[in-house]
Amino acid sequence: MTDLSPEAPSLTMADFFELSDELNGFLLMYRFGLEEMLTKVNILRDELSHADPSGCPIEHVSHRLKHPKSVAEKAERLGCLPSFADVRSKVWDIAGIRIVCSFVTDAYHVLGMLQRQPDLTVVTVKDYIAEPKSSGYKSLHLIVELPVFLSERTEMVRVEVQIRTVAMDFWASLEHKIYYKYRTDVPQRLRDDLVAIAEATDRLDQQMEQLHLESRGHAPLPGLDHRSVRPLSEP
Ligand code: GTP
Ligand code: MG
Repeated sequence: MTDLSPEAPSLTMADFFELSDELNGFLLMYRFGLEEMLTKVNILRDELSHADPSGCPIEHVSHRLKHPKSVAEKAERLGCLPSFADVRSKVWDIAGIRIVCSFVTDAYHVLGMLQRQPDLTVVTVKDYIAEPKSSGYKSLHLIVELPVFLSERTEMVRVEVQIRTVAMDFWASLEHKIYYKYRTDVPQRLRDDLVAIAEATDRLDQQMEQLHLESRGHAPLPGLDHRSVRPLSEP
């Protein structure tokens, strides 16, 4: 990565400030994209809460902009050229938003609502709920592209959207903390426990959804057994 410090012999002070300015402008566009995306999701949440105060599928929403150091690491990993254009075309998760839903069907419901918005293009969908990662990780991952209207031009900005249930979110945050502590050397016993907990989380999600449906006068879904939430020690 280019050394942006003024001491770097190849950079003049003017170059240094010019590059810093370009970086700020590059990241600003992602902040705009993130704000537009947040507005969209907050509108959905407020509209659905208004329609049914106890039935809003969106529990909470968080967002983040990748730190420049993390952007640089990922750009390097993806083999990008040191140009903003190349980084923009290859690193798609500089802006990220996470939508945490009550139930699994809500996650797909939110996906559908986003897919139907005419000014938003869903570029990719990775369904890690239908096909969890080997770690046990579950979520829907989308890359969406939306227009940001500037004074003299329109920029298309990509935003990563993660949609998951409260239970999946709880699991992912615990797993993230464990991986943060051990880096790549997570003991096998902990990995196995995480997979087992992910399975328990899945059963919990199913049971909660079942109860929710029944409480709203719906017939139980076939194939869901309340007793399927078993203690972890059981096979
Ligand atoms: P990253 O370089 O990590 O962004 O991966 P990627 O761009 O190939 O995409 P992927 O869909 O695999 O993961 C994107 C994001 O999902 C990550 O940055 C995490 O926020 C989350 N994620 C993916 N896999 C896991 C996992 O096993 N555990 C946890 N806790 N989070 C995960
Ligand atoms: Mg990512």
